[in-house]
Amino acid sequence: MHLLALESTCDETAAAILNDRLDVLASVIASQEDLHRRFGGVVPEIASRAHVERILPVIDETLKKANLTLDDIDAVAVANTPGLAGSLLVGLVAAKTLCVARQIPLIAVNHLQAHIYACRMAAGRDVYPCVGLIVSGGHSSLYRCRTPLDFEFLGGTIDDAAGEAFDKVAAMLGLPYPGGPSIERAAALGNRKAYAFPRAFLHDDRLEFSFSGLKTAVRYAIAGPGKPIPSGSDLTPQQKADLAASFQEAVVDCLIGKAMVAVHRTGVSTLCVGGGVAANARFRERITEESARRKIDLHIAPLNLCTDNAVMGAIGVERWKAGLFEPLDLDVFPGVVRRPHGKSAATTDKK
Ligand code: KG4
Ligand code: ZN
Repeated sequence: MHLLALESTCDETAAAILNDRLDVLASVIASQEDLHRRFGGVVPEIASRAHVERILPVIDETLKKANLTLDDIDAVAVANTPGLAGSLLVGLVAAKTLCVARQIPLIAVNHLQAHIYACRMAAGRDVYPCVGLIVSGGHSSLYRCRTPLDFEFLGGTIDDAAGEAFDKVAAMLGLPYPGGPSIERAAALGNRKAYAFPRAFLHDDRLEFSFSGLKTAVRYAIAGPGKPIPSGSDLTPQQKADLAASFQEAVVDCLIGKAMVAVHRTGVSTLCVGGGVAANARFRERITEESARRKIDLHIAPLNLCTDNAVMGAIGVERWKAGLFEPLDLDVFPGVVRRPHGKSAATTDKK
């Protein structure tokens, strides 16, 4: 049995083919980084148009790599929540069209559940129940994951996502998009203690993140209140490195602090981390140390499965096995749908 998984939630057009034993037969990712770089962030309309151009070539290339044809595909899984509405629609329409044409079932994938499932794919074994931490450009959230499909929201950011903060601070420092890797590179030469940036809520046990105050603190460290918005061009390389290192350390402290609160509160001993920011080397080093100290079974998605990809759409195999197929009027759900425990946010409430 072969599953074609599609991913188009943000600015990566991706497809993968998996079998029911979770073997990855092929995976293709077409990144749009070059298209969005000059804007310093993802422009939704550009993203959806680029998905339209790329989705069919990406599917073709994936089939070719797997040495299969559409005749060999038994079901299509597509991420339909959360993400950019226009981007999600492209993947969903492609998936529905294939399902109608081939008379095969349609499977909905929750992109956040999929980010955690990337850890399951890398581990090659069951990692549930776990606490799931998703740190990406659009999300910084903690979930209690009883099974791959049973996902309970524990808490998340009340303003910016961690990746979003990386991207915005990079723009202030005049570093190129995407900001995460740029900040990480600059931070490698900087002093983490050069600036005492705030760590919101770090010393209480609420499961919330806030990065907007940190972002403002960086802005004021570059140019005080009332001064023009900094462009980064007036800073020396050492100042940029110190600001980047101090900012990165503050984000890492908050992410790890709250992940540990979630593990403690749920009593679950496994922690799975996914999303683009989980690619950050300092974050990986620190959370690995902290988890070892607390005897937590830590799984961080490998670098190629941290940022958006369709291999993590393998969670569609779980839905397939559970008989969770979707009607062809399935819609996209751009925002995070927070359901009570037991219900998946990937589908509508219709059934
Ligand atoms: O998961 P992802 O590819 O897309 C979303 O679903 O948002 O995450 C992209 C985000 C961007 O904000 C990017 O700056 C950040 O992940 N990112 C990083 C690193 N690599 C990517 N942040 C920190 N350090 C990195 N090495
Ligand atoms: Zn993502």
